[in-house]
Amino acid sequence: MITLGNHVWRRREFAQYLKSAERVVRPANLGSSAPGSGLAVVDAEDGTPVAVVNLQGSLFISTPVSPFEVVDELVEQARSLAKVIVVDFHAEATSEKIAMARVLDGLVTAVIGTHTHVQTSDARVQPGGTAAITDAGMTGPHDSVIGVKAELAIARMRTGMPVRFEPAEGGVRIEGVLVECDADGRALSCEAVRVPVP
Ligand SMILES: [Fe+2]
Repeated sequence: MITLGNHVWRRREFAQYLKSAERVVRPANLGSSAPGSGLAVVDAEDGTPVAVVNLQGSLFISTPVSPFEVVDELVEQARSLAKVIVVDFHAEATSEKIAMARVLDGLVTAVIGTHTHVQTSDARVQPGGTAAITDAGMTGPHDSVIGVKAELAIARMRTGMPVRFEPAEGGVRIEGVLVECDADGRALSCEAVRVPVP
């Protein structure tokens, strides 16, 4: 599955594709008329159905509908379809991501924060059995300003003038989170992953 975030409409032509994409979800709280869906169910390699939910935060990020407004119904729907449920919460503020993880503790398998590109050191299994990390980090070049060639990002910050961003190249690593769960979808472990790519 591929989950998205605040750059979902960066390429206009993508909207048409998203309407029929079965393995790509966009944040569920973009508004009811937006194309695509914020929930999909796919089979894992062993046949276990896995529901994937995508939500976007509303603190310091432009989001049409509060994630807390839609999360209860969305997760109820996911729970009717699968026991293993992974939520990607694409949000800026650590507080909002921790709050969402608490809201969903005991209801889903994992709440994985994304968007900041900076991995946090709080991978954990909460008391109710839901794994959480505030941000899974970035797979890409870390010798950069969150993936962009540093001099270009700095030039934009210094002047406020438009600068065409280009991806950096150095310090590439894979970052993410590894969650183990039982057949009921209860998380057993949650570990941040950080692998340098030679
Ligand atoms: Fe983002």
